[in-house]
Parts: sequence; structure tokens; C-alpha cells
Amino acid sequence: MATLGIESSAHTFGVGIVERGRVLANAKSMYPITDKGMIPAKVADHHIQTFKETIEQALYDSGLSMSDIDSVGYTRGPGLGPCLRVGQLAARTISERRSIPIFPVNHACAHIEITRRMAGLRSPLALYVSGGNSQIVAREKHGYHVLGETLDIGVGNMLDNFARSAKMVPAWGSSVAKSAIKGRYLPMPYTVKGMDFAFTGLLTSAAKMLGRHSVNDISHSLQETAFSMLCEATERALLLTRSRELAVCGGVAQSSRLREMLSIMSRPHGIRFGFVDDQYNSDNGAMIAYVAELMRDSGSSFQLDKCTIDQKYRIEEVEALWR
Ligand code: FE2
Repeated sequence: MATLGIESSAHTFGVGIVERGRVLANAKSMYPITDKGMIPAKVADHHIQTFKETIEQALYDSGLSMSDIDSVGYTRGPGLGPCLRVGQLAARTISERRSIPIFPVNHACAHIEITRRMAGLRSPLALYVSGGNSQIVAREKHGYHVLGETLDIGVGNMLDNFARSAKMVPAWGSSVAKSAIKGRYLPMPYTVKGMDFAFTGLLTSAAKMLGRHSVNDISHSLQETAFSMLCEATERALLLTRSRELAVCGGVAQSSRLREMLSIMSRPHGIRFGFVDDQYNSDNGAMIAYVAELMRDSGSSFQLDKCTIDQKYRIEEVEALWR
């Protein structure tokens, strides 16, 4: 009863295999990050070149063969259209050839659910932070509710945009994080509106400071300000929902500084804070397989012609029958 999941929404082609909630494989092939950003057609070409070997790697790592796979999931969205298409096509081909059920998975939902499982949390409020997305997501019966989100760009893309302007390698904020360690704080624009937040003003201000202040000082101030905004909005959402648990997930959840700040914020409220290993915060197929298995076990079923992609697939549209 193993489920194979395919993730292809952005620069990673990931294939995971899950059996009864246990991850047996989590193989990945990543399009190299350059200073030119991601050109969707080129990333899709990478996925086409590597999908076969990544599927084979996952099967090898799990010790299973394709005949042991009895359901398949893929990322329906959100993400880059040409990239999503590669995963969709691979999953539909496997489903059709092997006559096994197929499940379209929401990428944000997959990050949240794998974190809930791996961090041993029951029903956390989730801060989902990645390149293209930054959202505060609460659980609802059979679904999710976005309480707050970015009004412009995702925090990861904001950090990467700055990294490019400062001639650093953009990698979900990790270059900025390294530079930030050596910096001092300078005042920067701070935009929180209720439980929403915005990053472009901050990015513009940081870019304008280049040449007038040290890159380390700007990186430090940019990161501290952006993460403080996320902490303030998340704290408000925690108190409003009376949540007892908080999870952080997505690419930017790999930041040890963000995790530290969220942990410090959670402590006085007695809130249990959790996160997962980096392999599940960066894009991966295991989280897609995990949610596909939840969908299968809760009785969902999808006709092949309904297995589309949706670049703007919102988590509120997900029918989470397993919750
Ligand atoms: Fe992601």
C-alpha cells in the first residue's frame, strides 16, 4: 500500500514514497539556482530531463518496485505552469498505465501536513513561508483558512531579490542569513496590517541603501525586520485563534533565525512550537505522497480528466476530509 508523490511546482523535481504515513524515500533533483532567477521553460526542461532518474532513485531508496505502488499524487498548484505540467504528466502516465488512483495535491497543504506529522503536532496554526508564498494558515473542519498573508511578494523572493541586487547567490534567503550574522541593525520600513504584511517597501529601501551602508548591516536589518513582521502577525493570529501549537514550514522555515524568533515569541504564551528537518521544508515529493495517502484513506477519488494543474491553487479550496 505505498503511495508515490511527485513535486514539480518550482525548481525542484521531487519524488517521495510513503507507506502508512512513513517516508520510505524522498529523492530530489534541483535546477541550479543562478543570479538570473528561474525561467519557467528552462526549469521545466530540467524536470523533463531528470524525472525518470528521480523516480528510479526514489524506488531504489525505498527498496520497492513500481508494481508495489498503488496510488500516486502530484502537485496541482500553486506554482509555475510549465513546471507543474511535467509532474502532472508523469503522475497521470503512472496512474493510467498501472490503473491506480491519482490525487492532485495542494503544495501549501502538503508543507503544513508533513510538518504536523513530523513535528508531532495535533492541530497547529501554521506560518507557511517560501519563495512565492507567505501565509498564516488556521485549520478548519475539513479545510483551512488563511488568516493573514503577504499583500505583495513572498518573503523568500524578497530576500532573494535583495541577494541578487547585492551580488550574492540567491537561495531562499540563505546568503542574506550568512551576511546578516556579521551586521548591525539599521531602521527599515515595517509594514504589518492586522495579520497581513508587505515586503516590497522593505526591499526597495534595502536596495537603495546599497553603497551607503555595508551589505552585512543591510542584510541583518532586512532579515530582522522581515522576520519581526512575520512574528508580530503570527502572534496576533495565535492569540485570536487561541491556538496552543504553532508550526513553521516552507523554504524560509530553514532559517534558524526565524525559528529562534518564533520560539521566543511562543514561549511566554505557553504555545508548543514545531518545525521539521530541512529536507521537508525545501520542496519535496514525500509531502505530496503523504497528503495523497491521506486523501486516499479518507475516501477521496478523482477522475483522470479532473487531474488538472492550477498555478494559483489556494489552500482554502482544499477539501481536507481527513481532518
Ligand atoms: Fe514549497
